[in-house]
Amino acid sequence: MRKKIVAGNWKCNTTLTEGVALAKQVDSLVAERGAKDVVVVLGAPFTHLASVAAAVDLNRIAVSSQNCAAEAKGAFTGEVSVSMIQSTGASHVIIGHSERREYYHETSEILNKKVALTLAQGLTPIYCCGEALAIREAGTENEFVKTQLEETIFNLSPEDFGKLVIAYEPIWAIGTGRTASSQQAQDMLAFIRQLIATKYNQTIAADCSILYGGSCSPSNAKELFSQPDIDGGLIGGASLKAEDFLAIINAY
Ligand code: 13P
Repeated sequence: MRKKIVAGNWKCNTTLTEGVALAKQVDSLVAERGAKDVVVVLGAPFTHLASVAAAVDLNRIAVSSQNCAAEAKGAFTGEVSVSMIQSTGASHVIIGHSERREYYHETSEILNKKVALTLAQGLTPIYCCGEALAIREAGTENEFVKTQLEETIFNLSPEDFGKLVIAYEPIWAIGTGRTASSQQAQDMLAFIRQLIATKYNQTIAADCSILYGGSCSPSNAKELFSQPDIDGGLIGGASLKAEDFLAIINAY
């Protein structure tokens, strides 16, 4: 059975004090109101991970980094390895976010290393994919996303593939207020699930949690989450306000 997941991606926002306060607020709101059977994940900056993990009940809230090094350890100044991330109490790693692909030139080769290291360390990759506006307007988004998957996570063994979470985030919907319609999101997620079934099998496809991300908000989450192939969301801006994030979690 696949899990429902609502993951916040705080991106490069919040000071340590603000991040810990936000995490505590989310944790206590989830404790008060419950999250049904939704897995709640907080994607905090590296500098916040240990403090955020210490501030929440890790049985209630999971903690994620937003990136990881492509090497296990060594002379890579400024990099943060998966074992460092794990040592903070974090359990998830967001990999291949479009902002990292675009601004930091992360290629499929780099992402493959990051996914492999994350899985080897027993953490859960939240693997991101999604097309830019020009590709959507050209009507080639399915081919584009298929290639992203084929160059990366479709190289995994069935066993490893079964451990990751996919987040489809159309770049044109990120931070723009222009959400994909629930039908557009559903169509792409159903397409991805079909690709998984063809590459692996029906069971692995049915068990894979696939999230939608891009201007997801309290006002559109219910509609998005009611779609059969949407297993939750990767939430940017709205995850920075505890009440909004809770409203999205409770949209299920
Ligand atoms: P927004 O929810 O701010 O559009 O960001 C989505 C996103 O990029 C999450 O990773």
